[in-house]
Amino acid sequence: MGVFTSIDDPSSTGHEQVVFCQDTQTGLRAIIGIYSTALGPALGGTRFYPYASEEAALADVLDLSRGMAYKNALAGLDLGGGKAVIWGDPDQLKSEPLLRAYGRFVESLNGRYYTACDVGTYVADMDVIARETRYVTGRSVEHGGAGDSSVLTAWGVFQGMRAAAEHVWGAPTLNGRRVGVAGLGKVGKHLTRHLLDDHAEVVATDVDPRAREWVRANHPQVELVDAAALVAADIDVYAPCALGGALDDDTVPALRAKVVAGAANNQLAHPGIEKLLADRGILYAPDYVVNAGGVIQVADEIEGFNFERAKLRATRIYDTTRQILRLADDEGVPPAVAADRLAERRMAEVGRLRTIHLR
Ligand SMILES: NC(=O)c1ccc[n+]([C@@H]2O[C@H](COP(=O)([O-])OP(=O)(O)OC[C@H]3O[C@@H](n4cnc5c(N)ncnc54)[C@H](O)[C@@H]3O)[C@@H](O)[C@H]2O)c1
Repeated sequence: MGVFTSIDDPSSTGHEQVVFCQDTQTGLRAIIGIYSTALGPALGGTRFYPYASEEAALADVLDLSRGMAYKNALAGLDLGGGKAVIWGDPDQLKSEPLLRAYGRFVESLNGRYYTACDVGTYVADMDVIARETRYVTGRSVEHGGAGDSSVLTAWGVFQGMRAAAEHVWGAPTLNGRRVGVAGLGKVGKHLTRHLLDDHAEVVATDVDPRAREWVRANHPQVELVDAAALVAADIDVYAPCALGGALDDDTVPALRAKVVAGAANNQLAHPGIEKLLADRGILYAPDYVVNAGGVIQVADEIEGFNFERAKLRATRIYDTTRQILRLADDEGVPPAVAADRLAERRMAEVGRLRTIHLR
């Protein structure tokens, strides 16, 4: 597979830049993908993952960097879309020299790309990378970072869910609704609290007994069921907050919820699922719209983190979701298509302003 063939996706405007980085001494093999800098420097995390092949690593970074451009555009950020992958098993390969070598490659892009955490990389890793580059965010509180991004991710998901509830039932509240939370991890726990504060009934599931124990101890009113039972439960809203691909050919036909809104990335197992949801009259609030609270948080850190300012911006996920759902109705397209159109419009209209010459 040629790189140019891969980055010339006919359905998109194409990636701006793809950088292959190698440091044989540390075993670093990384690819940085910059999809668009129309709105500003590209921002997106670094995924450290043992891909089966170089092709798989390249395909993932291209896909993820494009997704970040759309997510950042809809989150109202002055940031473009990028992402990086480090190919290898982080448990065996991750070391201070490798992370610092990677940091030097990020620095060499001179601010065209800002990195942050993703699968396989953590806040502590960002602190190490930051010893070699200024273009890193998602750092520890001790280093001026914002810390755990799940707080605002959950807040944003809750806002998106309110907008979906308003679209379906006429009022922007989950009061009296039964909400199924699938995954009681960092985001799922905060989301459960927001839902209970809003007087929703929560039914939840998690494969980890520690997460279930947390619920029993902290929120005994939450009903715990197994994963399959949650999908088929008599619920109004289904909130996937565990892994990607939660909505597939088995789960969607079993769903009784009228709304799907959750934190998990890449919830649709394949593109056809969107139509399946629409045919069943289920409103899907696109994952990358409602889960943007995390990227809003790390983006805020670039300016010097201010929790209230970042929370205000995450609260606007309510307005964005509302706008997308209306546009979807007006244009007769699924919400994910409407979301893409809105993101593309912002990238084109705001990005165009840079053609006004300043000096
Ligand atoms: N943390 C963030 O800021 C953030 C931002 C955007 C998107 N997301 C996405 O949201 C999702 C949750 O993130 P998180 O930070 O809470 O992760 P996490 O790892 O803290 O929590 C995930 C939880 O899901 C549970 N789980 C795994 N498989 C399950 C299954 N089959 N059924 C039920 N439960 C299962 C795990 O036991 C765990 O408790 C992920 O998909 C993540 O990519 C997170």
